[in-house]
Parts: sequence; structure tokens; C-alpha cells
Amino acid sequence: MTLLITGGAGFIGSAIVTAALDRGDDVRVLDSLRDDVHGGQPDIDPRVDFIRGDVRDADVVRSALDGVDVVCHQAAKVGLGVDFADAPDYVSSNDLGTAVLLAAMAEAGVMRLVVASSMVVYGEGSYRGAAGLTRPAPRRVEDLDAGRFDPLDADGGALVPQLIAEDAPLDPRNVYAITKLTQEYLATSWARSTGGRAAALRYHNVYGPGMPQNTPYAGVASLFRSALQRGEAPRVFEDGAQRRDFVHVRDIASANLAAIDFTAGPGAGGPGAAGSGAMDASFRPFNVGSGTVHTIGEMAEQLSIHAGGPAPVVTGEYRLGDVRHITASSARLQSELGWTPRETFESGMREFATAPLRAAVTPK
Ligand SMILES: NC(=O)c1ccc[n+]([C@@H]2O[C@H](COP(=O)([O-])OP(=O)(O)OC[C@H]3O[C@@H](n4cnc5c(N)ncnc54)[C@H](O)[C@@H]3O)[C@@H](O)[C@H]2O)c1
Repeated sequence: MTLLITGGAGFIGSAIVTAALDRGDDVRVLDSLRDDVHGGQPDIDPRVDFIRGDVRDADVVRSALDGVDVVCHQAAKVGLGVDFADAPDYVSSNDLGTAVLLAAMAEAGVMRLVVASSMVVYGEGSYRGAAGLTRPAPRRVEDLDAGRFDPLDADGGALVPQLIAEDAPLDPRNVYAITKLTQEYLATSWARSTGGRAAALRYHNVYGPGMPQNTPYAGVASLFRSALQRGEAPRVFEDGAQRRDFVHVRDIASANLAAIDFTAGPGAGGPGAAGSGAMDASFRPFNVGSGTVHTIGEMAEQLSIHAGGPAPVVTGEYRLGDVRHITASSARLQSELGWTPRETFESGMREFATAPLRAAVTPK
């Protein structure tokens, strides 16, 4: 099988490349090597057919699709961004890029797609209050300033965080999130109009070797890890009790392989797949999480311990727009595609505490 991995030089894409090569797939990578995410020439496995180019460039995409059976679309501008002036770059890189790619796939008759999505499509996590399952509104500045970090229900009652499932309402709350959800809608439309088959993987908090270290788009795990590398304490915002599902990049890679198999058609996706209505779907979203809930404070603590660095400092600062708790149910991916995460929080954080990060980007 020949696989095209867009963004295959990135943090997650390169882990998928390794996993796909290890199982014997032929791998082509299309990556523009954005200079705001790559601090140097990334290591590309010599077995990869590497094309440096942009997914928005229809000619490059057409030639990259030659002989390809499945596209695994990871290329994107990631993270929260610096400010609203980033919006055109997000929309162009992520949505125009996806549209160009899908149009070229339709033209070339490439009918199988996996697209990298994100938990950010949900907005806040899922909570249970006195009135049942609920989705709280964005938190108010006055509550955050007063250190009241947990969202409350409309009557001021307490809410208990729940695992979020794929059928939860979608509520993207920033430009990046909107572009990730648009990618899913574009994939849905492509599948419907071409007869193709697509899976969207909604990654939760991904961590592991090769994470970027100093870009404005870096996730919290790499910010803590980079602080420790400089000999500084990780600075934990709010009270550190924010709940997340930290999932190892190698588990993300194996989820992509399972999703690639799903795109082959009903019955191809693993145990329990044959004949189920879900597996007949031409587009299917799947959460990808480890299945274990930890707090951001716990992650900082584990990294400090295993890096032998200073203990985390809980600062009480906050970023408007951050969600309080969001944790995944990955039951669908496990039951329909037979995927199982292999890395535990403890061993993953121990490895990550001293694992190499991606080369630093030179600030402009
Ligand atoms: N890292 C996470 O925690 C996380 C969480 C949820 C979803 N995701 C999604 O996973 C995917 C991979 O993210 P990552 O963390 O590996 O990011 P990354 O920045 O490490 O990798 C993205 C790669 O895509 C390339 N790229 C970007 N725009 C491109 C374009 N227009 N044409 C060609 N190449 C382009 C970059 O050069 C880079 O190598 C993205 O789609 C992202 O939205 C990541």
C-alpha cells in the first residue's frame, strides 16, 4: 500500500511515518517544512519519498498523489496562535489546503482519507450537573480573576466533568478550532460527493519525543519540558487541577494506522467491525485519548521528578479561552477499530522528561 502523509516531517506525522514504514507500507511525505515550526532540516527516514511542497499548491499535490492508495492528512498550522492576525494563515493553511488536497484526490480517484482533527472541536468538555449533561458557557473574567476556575451551571451549582464522546455538540471556540472542524466538514462533503471514505481522528493532548520546544504554537507539555531543559520550574496556570487526557505520540501513530485500515471499507477495520452500521459510514470521527484522566499539575510534577528539575510553580494565571476540563472517551476507536493505547502516563512522562525535542526555531 502506498500512503501519502501530509505534514509527515512534523511531530505527529513523523511518528506515523515510522509506524507505517515498520508495518511495510510505502510512504511518501508532502511537507512544506514551515520555517515557524522547523528550526532546522528535520530527520526524514531515507526510505521515505519526500516532497517539499505546500498542500495549497495543486500541481505539487497532483504529482504527490501519483500511485497513492490512502492520504493521511496531518499538515496544518497548529496551536492557539499568537493573536487574531493569525486567522488568514490558519484558514489558508488548514482549510484552503484541505480543499485543494481533496479536489486533487477527487480528480485522481484516491478514495481513502484520514484527517487529523482535534478535541478543540468540542470547546469545553462535557459536564454533569443537577439537570443532567451540560455544556457550560465560556468562563467569565471576574470568576477567573477571583480564582474561581471551575465552570458552574446556570444556577451556580457544581458540575462534575465527564468523558466526552464523539456525538457531543461541537463548539469550536477559536480560529484554529474552527479550521479543524471545517476540515472535518470538507472531508464529509468530499466523501459524500466522491464515494470516498474518511476518518477524522480527534486527538487529545499529544506528547512525546520530537515535540516542538519554543514555537508560539507549542502545547503545554512541551512548554513544561522546555522550561525544565532550561533549568526552570514549569509554571502551571490556574490551580493545576485542569483535567486532560495526555496521549502518547506513538499511540496517535497506531490510531492512524487503524483509521487507515478503516478507510478500506466495511469489515476491514478490525475486531467487531464487520457489518456494523457505523462501519458503513463514509465519514466517521474518532476521539484518540489514552483513556486515563490526569491534571496539568500532575503532568508538571511527573516531568519535574523525572527530569530531576525544580518542582512546578502554580501561578494562578490564566489564558482567556482555555477550557477547564476536557477528557476523551476513546471507546469508539477501541471497539470499532480494535485500537488499544500502549503507553501509560507514568512511563510516557518518564521518557518524555528527557526525550529530545524538535530543533528550536530562531525567533524572527
Ligand atoms: N500536537 C497536538 O497536540 C495536536 C492535537 C490535536 C490535533 N493535532 C493535529 O495534528 C496534526 C499534526 O500536528 P503536529 O503537532 O504534528 O504539528 P507540527 O507543526 O509538528 O507538524 C505539522 C507539519 O505540517 C507541515 N505543514 C504545515 N502547513 C503545511 C502546508 N500548508 N503544506 C504542507 N505542509 C505543511 C509543517 O511544516 C509541519 O511539518 C495537525 O493537523 C494538528 O492540527 C495536533
